[in-house]
Amino acid sequence: MTPLSADLQLAVIAAKRAGALLRKGYSSTFTAQVKSDNSLVTEFDQQAERLIRETLAASPYSILGEEEGLHDLGSSRVWVIDPLDGTTNFSRKLPLFAVSIGLMQGNESLLGVIYDPLRDECFYAEKGRGAYKNEEPLRIDAHASPQAVIFIECGCADQDKLLLAEQTRRLALDYDVRLLGTTALELCRVAEGAADAFISSGDHLWDFAAGMCIVQEAGCVFCDWHGRPWRTDHSFVLTGRYAIVKDLVRRIGDLQP
Ligand code: IPD
Repeated sequence: MTPLSADLQLAVIAAKRAGALLRKGYSSTFTAQVKSDNSLVTEFDQQAERLIRETLAASPYSILGEEEGLHDLGSSRVWVIDPLDGTTNFSRKLPLFAVSIGLMQGNESLLGVIYDPLRDECFYAEKGRGAYKNEEPLRIDAHASPQAVIFIECGCADQDKLLLAEQTRRLALDYDVRLLGTTALELCRVAEGAADAFISSGDHLWDFAAGMCIVQEAGCVFCDWHGRPWRTDHSFVLTGRYAIVKDLVRRIGDLQP
């Protein structure tokens, strides 16, 4: 395993600190509030983001987080944080949530860390240096499995929910369609080969900035629904093994404007 860069080490420390906080919070009593975009927030999303920001302040990069927005330091590199991906699961005591920290430069994800505190699983990757789960390298198998599993996620807007319904209608007979309610962990499952592809619309950059590097380094294509390289100016995301992505582009490409 190649040694982790200082940036990646810092992100792992930040993710594990926040993860320890979430692990405790998960078994406590708390309430969730509805935000203006209809998604949920708890005190633990906010506390975890504060902890991550304090840790990442040791680096010179700007920080964009789900709960506190952009702290612009004029750097071309931006930490992109989801302190608690899967807030609805967390607040309903469904044990599927994670901390997600990516480092973006333009349209590229330079590194990503996703920490699942309940399983103590840390997924991480750095551009050109491979993807790992704890210390184990992740590399997808290029051959298609007989019954391919795909995740479909969407944001909270009505248009995205309708798109999810339409994709399911088109794909459910030929693919095993799943939705775990946490984009970050779904991307990790694709990177380790437990699932074959992931599709979303309306997710925010913080939902997938870290996962983007992890799936790419595990050997997945990461593109839009037309199969073009993904760009930060829209939220149509498709990733997975090349052959499946190619088939999905054929089946749902026309749904992306
Ligand atoms: C949510 C999850 C979910 C996705 C939503 C996100 P949050 O993140 O990633 O899978 O479908 O669009 O908002 O709000 O729990 O951090």
